[in-house]
Amino acid sequence: RRMLSSAGTAGVAGLVSGAVAGGTAGYAVADRAVPVTAVGATAVPFHGTHQAGITAPPQAQAIGHLAAFDLARGTGRTEAAALMRRWSAAAKAMTQGHAPACDDQIALDAGPCSLTATFGFGRTFFTRTGLTHRTPAALVPVPRFPSDAIDPKRSDGDLWIQIGADDPLVAFHALHVLQKEAAGAAEVRWQMSGFNRARGATSHPKTVRNLMGQIDGTGNPKPTDEDFAAKIFVPDSGHTDQAWMNGGSYAVVRRIRMLLGHWADLTRTEQEEVIGRRKGTGAPLSALKGAAETTPMDLNKFTRNGSLAIPADAHIRVAAPESNDGAAMLRRGFSYHDGYRTDGTPDAGLLFITWQADPEAFIKVQTKLDGADHLTRFIRHESTAVFAVPGGAAPGEYVGQRLLE
Ligand code: HEM
Repeated sequence: RRMLSSAGTAGVAGLVSGAVAGGTAGYAVADRAVPVTAVGATAVPFHGTHQAGITAPPQAQAIGHLAAFDLARGTGRTEAAALMRRWSAAAKAMTQGHAPACDDQIALDAGPCSLTATFGFGRTFFTRTGLTHRTPAALVPVPRFPSDAIDPKRSDGDLWIQIGADDPLVAFHALHVLQKEAAGAAEVRWQMSGFNRARGATSHPKTVRNLMGQIDGTGNPKPTDEDFAAKIFVPDSGHTDQAWMNGGSYAVVRRIRMLLGHWADLTRTEQEEVIGRRKGTGAPLSALKGAAETTPMDLNKFTRNGSLAIPADAHIRVAAPESNDGAAMLRRGFSYHDGYRTDGTPDAGLLFITWQADPEAFIKVQTKLDGADHLTRFIRHESTAVFAVPGGAAPGEYVGQRLLE
């Protein structure tokens, strides 16, 4: 009887406090409030100009899986096209809350739960399918940076899928179905899983916090910005050969481990100086105490004792578009925790994903951060990949059809 009553209480508490759901408004602050029962029922359209899973705010998807695949030997363009057709059909069904053709009845009672599946092609995909001549010029390899500690086995890949959902079971189901659909055509090269915050975890909707405890996502371009699409999505180049990338984007994926032990050795004030923002509110250090997260940062502000309010090596100063000829990207990652390493430190950090119209934006900013950013001392980049993510499929099409047909 005690179990029953505590379950009842939890249910009521969930209804009251979990009343937040997705929408495209606002990376920095709030989504629309809707009853918690709508969380499972929310479906993200599969078809559209852009693939889903790029612009929805990260707090709208509590769990993410990233999986890279390599094409199996003997898989050429025809088989790759058939795979993209199968993947698209399965993703379309599951994102709308229907059973896919090869269902395994794992998530029978769940709604679509905002499931998204986003597909990308790595550089090697083009050579393996005889399409080298159609490799987008922007799909350059990301160079190795001096502080990198990259594991090649957990990097790159011919194909990539990003899955996001509000429910872990729905997300696993989608990953499992798509991996089964690849049988004979492609094998998993690496797979990583991460999470964001659960709806209702905070008293009002907020930008997510990462595992260093910082509010993360404030400076992102906003869908309401006039130049948002130009920064994130590939424009129509006028070349029919590249038309399959119209409305597409480039995803840079970096697994970045946080050195949480070293980080904890800093005082809260020191931690705030590393980033350039206050931990509690996310407000920039150039703003008065009590300022909000959204207060614009002032890179030219000095403190009363004559030092820069946002230090010269603060992460936000070095990473800001103002310091990088306007280079901007949409950061939309997931936290991860994969247990403990042999030295006892947590294998935890950020599955850092940026979306941009040209990966050059990431390369430019990371080149600068690697040498000048105080945060570099507290993180390790351990894997790297870049993928061309085609524009969204029109009704009746599969993702990548305009490249592969
Ligand atoms: C801003 C954390 C890696 C680019 C921020 C902020 C935090 C943060 C807390 C301030 C809030 C915000 O605007 O989101 C981290 C952590 C990282 C990391 C913990 C690694 C584990 C990177 C990398 C890049 C990057 C690798 C790009 C190459 C940016 C940019 C901003 C930013 C562009 C916004 C700057 C602005 O205000 O204009 N990051 N970051 N970050 N970060 Fe990072």
